[in-house]
Amino acid sequence: MDAYTCIRTKRDSRAYAGRPISDEALQRILQAGRMAGSSKNTQPWAFVVLRDEARKAELAACGQFAAHVPSAPLVIAVVLTPGGGAFDAGRAAQNMMLAAWAEGITSCPVSMHDQDCAARALGLPAEHRVAIVISFGYPESEASLHRGVVRTPLAELVRYERW
Ligand SMILES: Cc1cc2nc3c(=O)[nH]c(=O)nc-3n(C[C@H](O)[C@H](O)[C@H](O)COP(=O)(O)O)c2cc1C
Repeated sequence: MDAYTCIRTKRDSRAYAGRPISDEALQRILQAGRMAGSSKNTQPWAFVVLRDEARKAELAACGQFAAHVPSAPLVIAVVLTPGGGAFDAGRAAQNMMLAAWAEGITSCPVSMHDQDCAARALGLPAEHRVAIVISFGYPESEASLHRGVVRTPLAELVRYERW
C-alpha cells in the first residue's frame, strides 16, 4: 500500500478478529512511533504495551468510550513525560496507526477521561500522563471498517494566502 492510500483509507475501527499481532509487527509499530518528530527533538513520550486481559480491562475502565479496548489483541498507551505536548504525542500515535494499517492492522485512538485512573492502572511516575490509548487488531470484517464516514469538504477547510 502506498503512503497516500494508507492515509486515505485509514479508519478508526473497534471490532477486531481474534488473530494475534506478531512481535515483529509490534516492533514495526513501536519503531514508527519512535521515529516521529517532536518539538526540539525532545521525544517526550513512552509507550506502554498491553496484551494482558486484566490490564487491558483495568485501563479501559478509565475511558468513557473504551468498551472495545479489552477485545483488542494489542493496546498501546502513549504516555507524555513531564512538559510534553499533545501535538508530539499525536504525531507518534498517528505514525503507529499508519504503520499498522499499512500491513492490514486497524486501530482506534481512545481517550482516558479519568487520568488518575489511567495513571494508577499503568503505574505511571509522577507528572506523567496518558495522551492517548490505541487499540490495535486485524479487522473483524470488511464492514467493520466503516469506510463510508465522511469528512468536511476541502472547499470548506482551505483558504489561500489569507482567511
Ligand atoms: C483525540 C481522539 C480521541 C478519541 N477518543 C476516542 C474514544 O475515547 N473512543 C472511541 O471509540 N474513539 C475515539 N476516537 C476516535 C474518533 O471517534 C474517530 O477518530 C472519528 O470518529 C473518525 O473516525 P474514522 O476515522 O473511522 O472516520 C478518538 C479520536 C481522537 C483523534
